[in-house]
Amino acid sequence: MSQTPFEQAGSLRIGTVEFVSPDEIKVGLDVEAPESVALNTGGPRPFPRVNGYLLIPVDDGFLVGQTEWMTVERSPFPKRRGMQDFGLVDLPYPLRRLSLNPLGTLRAPSDGDGYVFRRGADALPSVGAAVVLPTDSQLRSIVESGERRHVQIGTSPLAGDARVRVDPNRLFGRHLAVLGNTGSGKSCSVAGLIRWSLEKAQAVRGGTPNARFVVLDPNGEYSRAFPKNDPTVRARVFKVDRGKVERALKVPLWFWNSAEWCSFTQASAKTQRPLLRRALREVKAGRTEASGSTDEERRFRLRRRLSSQLIALRRDLRSNSIKTEATKFGFQAEAIVADIEQWIPQHPEVPLAASRDAIRAALDARHRDGTDRNTGQAFVYFVAFTDAEIQAIIETIEAALAALGGIVLQEGPDEDVPLAFTGTDLADHLEILAEQENVSQYLDFLVARIRTFLSDPRMRAIISDTEGTTLENWLNDHIGSNNAEGGCVSVIDLSLVPTEVVHVVTAVIARMTFEALQRYVRVNGATLPTVLVMEEAHTFIKRYKEDIENQGPATVCCQVFERIAREGRKFGLGLVLSSQRPSELSPTVLSQCNTFLLHRISNDIDQDRVHRLVPDNLRGLLRELPSLPSQSAILLGWASELPVLVKMNDLPKSQQPRSDDPEFWGVWIGKDEQGEPISRSADWEKVAKDWQAGPQVANDDGEGEEA
Ligand SMILES: Nc1ncnc2c1ncn2[C@@H]1O[C@H](COP(=O)(O)OP(=O)(O)OP(=O)(O)O)[C@@H](O)[C@H]1O
Ligand SMILES: [Mg+2]
Repeated sequence: MSQTPFEQAGSLRIGTVEFVSPDEIKVGLDVEAPESVALNTGGPRPFPRVNGYLLIPVDDGFLVGQTEWMTVERSPFPKRRGMQDFGLVDLPYPLRRLSLNPLGTLRAPSDGDGYVFRRGADALPSVGAAVVLPTDSQLRSIVESGERRHVQIGTSPLAGDARVRVDPNRLFGRHLAVLGNTGSGKSCSVAGLIRWSLEKAQAVRGGTPNARFVVLDPNGEYSRAFPKNDPTVRARVFKVDRGKVERALKVPLWFWNSAEWCSFTQASAKTQRPLLRRALREVKAGRTEASGSTDEERRFRLRRRLSSQLIALRRDLRSNSIKTEATKFGFQAEAIVADIEQWIPQHPEVPLAASRDAIRAALDARHRDGTDRNTGQAFVYFVAFTDAEIQAIIETIEAALAALGGIVLQEGPDEDVPLAFTGTDLADHLEILAEQENVSQYLDFLVARIRTFLSDPRMRAIISDTEGTTLENWLNDHIGSNNAEGGCVSVIDLSLVPTEVVHVVTAVIARMTFEALQRYVRVNGATLPTVLVMEEAHTFIKRYKEDIENQGPATVCCQVFERIAREGRKFGLGLVLSSQRPSELSPTVLSQCNTFLLHRISNDIDQDRVHRLVPDNLRGLLRELPSLPSQSAILLGWASELPVLVKMNDLPKSQQPRSDDPEFWGVWIGKDEQGEPISRSADWEKVAKDWQAGPQVANDDGEGEEA
């Protein structure tokens, strides 16, 4: 049952409006207004309280104001309602004043009871108007108004512990930034938001929700929050393969687009990048012997093979192995001749016969028959080819290549399409290009770099694709299968990914997710709502200097997220980022986030950054940022009608991400707070063995260390 504004004004009045401007209202408190706790609102409530809500009756409802500051002023006269006689001698008297930020209006709808809160104040009060305390139900309406608020994330201590609920469409649809100091509760909030959303969706649907969350987890903390056997979340955790993991993290190198390749290999802008792009395109074009391939593609492949033979021949010539390993060379030459023999009928227009004849002639001349003296068995060996013979072979292959002409594939696939090839293919092809275009001096280092990366076992475990990953099953695994049958959350543990590749790997996963959803929309005409969570966003979405030369992996990674922040919404991809250094985040990404969950922030620069995200009249609440306890946060933006202080729901220990502070005291004294013994042996032998064994041998999969 709602009172009329004027009935209420009588009973709950606490003061009078003394000053009005569109963004500030000053109030003089009545002498008899409560001094610390108001008891007449339906329950004890702290009053006056900074950031507490007060109402001023206007037109057909109330203007809602939030207390920004309060003060005591010495007034020359006491203020006594009803008997203002200024004739007596009075002592200076303390008068309390406070300032309100107008936030919106609270109205009782004509067709029901309760109140509805709307942002924006269309009517301002005048001086002399009464200021009243909200009743409990009014207070709750301020925080709880709004539609489709399906998921409860916490309660609001400033609003009579009203339930703070959010509309998932709003929370995830236009990107959410969770910001706060270390230990302020960001990871718990993120894990909670995912879990509470899924729990509610499951309850409403009465079965598994068709939801998709991809969590990029640089610290490896989320596998504890989302254990495998948890029936609601059913997370899939991908880890770097250390021998025992169930799902190995694979980001095959053929997923990478050209920008990612260029940044990873540090290709120089002028000379190396164009050639690297071309090599990628051509490797992808020539990758299969598909029967349906065009004439051009077949010629292209022939060219590639002839070139690589020519390169090998020249290499042998340089190293003199033609002379020193004459027999081995002879057998190689036989293999080449057999290949050429096959190509002749396929390519009648190319003068391959001359090469064949030249090699045959040399083979015939240098071929010898021997007999094993001991066993009497016959065998074949070769003596060294003469320089003239080698020269003839090289010349005929060059002639064949010249007849083929330089083939630049017009119709080949785009260099960024994820088509399978191996790293060795690419390195070989770059070598061929270097030879063909006569630019070895530019490419040698690049090729060497690529070969070094490929031979590094830590990298190979992630980027080389030996198990035959297909694009389809990768998407199924990482983004989630049909109806989320395989689970709703995939956690990608980046903690053991070598630092050299961690940015590229993150960029590739984020981009693949984005592009897959983009294509999903193109194919199906509807979006597949998916949430991408990036923890420690300041390392992966770090602001960078804009210049062409600066295309390092960190920049490329940031650019992917900028693109997702700008366009993700259209394709159903929502971004949740969590960071302790908002001032280091890319401004583009931050400005595209429409909802903020702000935990304690005490650093100046970071506070400043956050203050700039909100309009002036809402900054009052943000002054609480430095003093927020963990688990409390301010929710503001698109998902919340007005900024609210939220005490997040409790997340039991077993559902929290693993990020406990180290237990110094407990280890020192040998027992924990509950008196349970704690022992830590410094077993360096194990550590040393694990360290030196390299990536594949160690068998710790990170689970269970927290018994
Ligand atoms: N909703 C919650 N329920 C229960 N405990 C919480 C909650 N939020 C925070 N905490 C407590 O606060 C501690 C720190 O939280 P959390 O690890 O989420 O901080 P963080 O901001 O992610 O820190 P960092 O920046 O170092 O990753 C947790 O270990 C937990 O004890
Ligand atoms: Mg954290």
